[in-house]
Amino acid sequence: MRSPAGSLRASDIGRTVTVSGWVQRRRDHGGIAFIDVRDASGVIQVVADPAEHEEVTDLKMEYCISVTGVIRARPEGTENPDLPTGGVEMGVEELAVLSSADTLPFMIDDRVEIDERTRLRYRYLDLRRPRMGANLRARSRATAAIRRTLDEQGFLEVETPTLVNSTPEGARDMLVPSRLRKGEFYALPQSPQLFKQLLMVAGVERYFQIARCYRDEDFRADRQLEFTQLDLEGSFWDRDDVLDTIESVLVAVTKELRGIDVTRPFPRLTWQESMERFGTDKPDLRFGAEIIELSDLFGESGFGVFRDTLAGGGTIRGINVGQQEWSRSRADSLTERAKELGAKGLVWMIVEEDESLRSPVAKFLDDKELTGIRDALDAKPGDVLLIAADRWKLAVEVLGTLRNDLLRPSAHQDLAFLWVIDFPLFEEEEDGTITFSHHPFTSPASLDDMRDNPTGAISKAYDAVLNGVELGSGSVRIHDPDVQRQVFDILGIEPATAERRFGWFLEALRYGTPPHAGFAFGIDRLVMVLQGETSIREVIPFPKTQSGVDPMTGAPTWVEETQLEELGVTLTESALARRELPDDPGE
Ligand code: AMO
Ligand code: AMP
Repeated sequence: MRSPAGSLRASDIGRTVTVSGWVQRRRDHGGIAFIDVRDASGVIQVVADPAEHEEVTDLKMEYCISVTGVIRARPEGTENPDLPTGGVEMGVEELAVLSSADTLPFMIDDRVEIDERTRLRYRYLDLRRPRMGANLRARSRATAAIRRTLDEQGFLEVETPTLVNSTPEGARDMLVPSRLRKGEFYALPQSPQLFKQLLMVAGVERYFQIARCYRDEDFRADRQLEFTQLDLEGSFWDRDDVLDTIESVLVAVTKELRGIDVTRPFPRLTWQESMERFGTDKPDLRFGAEIIELSDLFGESGFGVFRDTLAGGGTIRGINVGQQEWSRSRADSLTERAKELGAKGLVWMIVEEDESLRSPVAKFLDDKELTGIRDALDAKPGDVLLIAADRWKLAVEVLGTLRNDLLRPSAHQDLAFLWVIDFPLFEEEEDGTITFSHHPFTSPASLDDMRDNPTGAISKAYDAVLNGVELGSGSVRIHDPDVQRQVFDILGIEPATAERRFGWFLEALRYGTPPHAGFAFGIDRLVMVLQGETSIREVIPFPKTQSGVDPMTGAPTWVEETQLEELGVTLTESALARRELPDDPGE
């Protein structure tokens, strides 16, 4: 029987055991070889005399071996307290090489910096590294905790198909051509949204699924083409039933991965409050520096930018970002950043020792204004104050982004969960068209408000946020087909289009649909934050690069002409031209 290498302790001294694993490290000291053997459970030090065991001389890094020998105490003074097995070592009676290994493209060691392409090219080796192994295990424990928690609450785990019709979640669909019905396409689900609602019509009442979702959208550190959600829905539910259930799951996963008891209920902010105070719908509450409205100070200001902004219906907001290393070039780069974000400019001020304010615009402001700024922003000597004058949304968003840029902690010990509730129902695009802000199946908070002023209407949608990361979203759904039609109407979806795209769904709503509500959070994102990682690629076993490529398998790839023919697909000129180019490895 094999013993797990990482499990061996002083209580095993005297036992003969067999360990199988990989040669992590090998040192030779005074004619003795010390070999660290690693398996999934940890590392044990094997001590061999090459004179007795010739095989030892040939061992190289990452050879896969099996060793049988006696566990004994390490000689006094050579114990390693950093290693769980550091009090013991293993002698050798028998040693067999199960597989040799070529020279590795990189060391299996967390301390070595390796570029991401190489890591993904050899992901199976990358996953041998302790940090990645820990991330894999954390993810598995997270999903186990999710299942345990929901099973205890009587939820049914139901699978839904991945070859479906389009589900509108706001991204581009990934399409799969049908061979049997040439010219027709399946879409991969952006989420199981409509199927889970149908499960409510089907009387399931409490559904969940650990669901793979596909969205063709721009990559970021927290976005992939395919990702995994905990997807959940309940019948006869209102918002608070959802928040309560999701909190129970998030608390259980945090306990599992961090050993911490998170305080419940999580704080709640309305979307409006979150935007006003933090300039974002996913605020990081681990630090203060809230945005403050300063408009009242400047109605009659001698500073034209402020006066004109207010006259034009805009607002003036400020933030105290505390002590910062400050220089002219720092000031310029922050102003540049603000402009990139769409601001017309950025006022900065430094609080001097005598509490006066140093700023390029100080000369345009009178004492009352300067004192007003200082008081409102609770300014202390050395503090840096930033002020933006603009339309409300732009002003708060710019300051919210700078707040994150300058103050977001890099340490990840603290966890700040919160709910953002009462999201707007719709968003207005710059060209005046109206789109949904969550998805088109979200219930309005008030039908009258929606009819009177769609762009001002509040929805029954809510988000979960952790340390400034949007973990998930959900809503109370529309269960009345007539209301659903009105929402499509506001979205400019013609009845005929709605019928063609969602007729099957609208029909289902007519057969006694229970009121229902639900949620989905990104498991990748949750595990990322809890593991202290800054990219979901670190917690996805086989992710794609930023350009959507898998450097290991080469996906996506060209396919045979005959396959395309079978599918009734022809490539355009531009696609064919790309095919002639030398292979672009992507990032
Ligand atoms: P939503 O579109 O907000 O809601 O998605 C929910 C959560 O899924 C995760 N997520 C992603 N993770 C990685 N890569 C991506 N490209 C990506 N896109 C989304 C995020 C996000 O918060 N059907 C609704 C939920 C509902 O209403 O019940 C939905 O999918 O963590
Ligand atoms: P200007 O009059 O454009 O030279 O701007 C004078 C100062 O005000 C510069 O420091 C600008 O960055 C700043 N500024 C200009 N427009 C805005 C604005 N909308 N909000 C905040 N600061 C601004």
